[in-house]
Amino acid sequence: MNCRRLSSGIAGLFAATLAATDPATAQQQPGADFPDGAGKSDVVAICAGCHDINRLKAGYTVEGWHTVMRMMQNFGAPIPSDRVTTITDYLIKSFPEGPRPAAALIEGPVDVNIKEWPVATPGSRPHDPLAARDGSLWYTGQLANELGRLDPKTGEIKEYPLNPSTGPHGLKEDKSGSIWFTGNFSSVIGKLDPKTGKVTEYPMPDPAAKDPHSLAFDHDGILWFTVQQGNRIGRLDPKNGEVKLLTPPTAGARPYGIEVDSKNTIYVVEFGAPKIAAIDPKTLAIREFPLPDPAARPRRLAIGPDDTIWYSDFARGYLGHLDPANGQVKEWASPSGPKSQPYGMVFTKGAVWYSESAAKPNTIVRFDPKTEKFQTWAIPGGGDIVRNMDVNRDGEPVMANSLVNKVGLIEVKGAK
Ligand code: HEC
Repeated sequence: MNCRRLSSGIAGLFAATLAATDPATAQQQPGADFPDGAGKSDVVAICAGCHDINRLKAGYTVEGWHTVMRMMQNFGAPIPSDRVTTITDYLIKSFPEGPRPAAALIEGPVDVNIKEWPVATPGSRPHDPLAARDGSLWYTGQLANELGRLDPKTGEIKEYPLNPSTGPHGLKEDKSGSIWFTGNFSSVIGKLDPKTGKVTEYPMPDPAAKDPHSLAFDHDGILWFTVQQGNRIGRLDPKNGEVKLLTPPTAGARPYGIEVDSKNTIYVVEFGAPKIAAIDPKTLAIREFPLPDPAARPRRLAIGPDDTIWYSDFARGYLGHLDPANGQVKEWASPSGPKSQPYGMVFTKGAVWYSESAAKPNTIVRFDPKTEKFQTWAIPGGGDIVRNMDVNRDGEPVMANSLVNKVGLIEVKGAK
């Protein structure tokens, strides 16, 4: 069982929102303002053990609450088996899904086919996808503490167990085929050898770097990573395992998505700043580009072939573009509106592709920088939170749909 307090970005967001709108809540005993009913005392006793109990108020569908319960059990929440039904019923009744913006579906020139596969373990919360060079599709099973490998041709899945409470998050493949991940809850970077299943862990040299988050390889094979709550940007040399941690100039910057451009500059979106940071891998100097609206929350980024930066503004519902040559920023309102929560994104086949993670159903959005036009598709089955995307060897976007426990592929059929 793991009862370490977690401070995830999402928990932090809810805490901040609640503190801002309802200062009384913060003073009360956790859960004091929850509706009465059978199961309440269990929820209050159990669900504040690892994170802010107020995150329950976000609300879920009936199916969503069953998934959440499965995820918490996977992660070792001490829920007595004879209380599961009572607790689940209480949550379903007390915290139904809140209002969500309707998906704006926009016709366009491109034809796609969205394919999805359920992953093997229920409630594993597939967080990040990885399209490996051999055509397989990997995912981090964050709450099942495992990595999974899907063969899209046969649908066959192989799971690789990690240490308990790892909370695997980001995922990348190196040149030799090893799979690297961040241990978001155990403060490590990990490497899996898929041939043997052997896991090597690289602990953080500073306890402040508690939550390694997203990662990217540079052109010299150095692994760069973000540490969100710990506010660090890290560098790991796979040759000798040495880890070096940099601190962004902005306090509470919350480094999140990370990518490398064609000139080997490392780019990081700073979710809390809100800024975009560029790191010179030779001098380790960090340059920050401020975003014009202080309410922006850039969560993921993608780099175009011209080395300009695209980012998803989660809080305001915008697609943003930064030209690092002159610091200029341009924004477009995301099709499903200010509350659509744009999240995982990639740049491929001449366009930006991302998902609106709050739209009902979740969407895949394509934005063509030449025409500045959007096209969108509903994710079959609702999607439910694509936190990150990757690109496969055919240049097609892949995704992990965390709350419906699936991974997916967007087959791009070309022009209609
Ligand atoms: C053993 C630790 C632990 C306990 C106890 C626990 N949780 Fe969690 N919970 C987690 C972790 C880990 C996550 C995912 C990481 C994060 O976002 O913090 C999470 C996330 C969540 C989320 C967000 C899920 C999502 O992806 O949107 C909800 C809702 C939630 N927990 C509800 C509950 C409820 C209800 C209980 C009590 C029945 C509970 N938790 C008890 C560890 C725990």
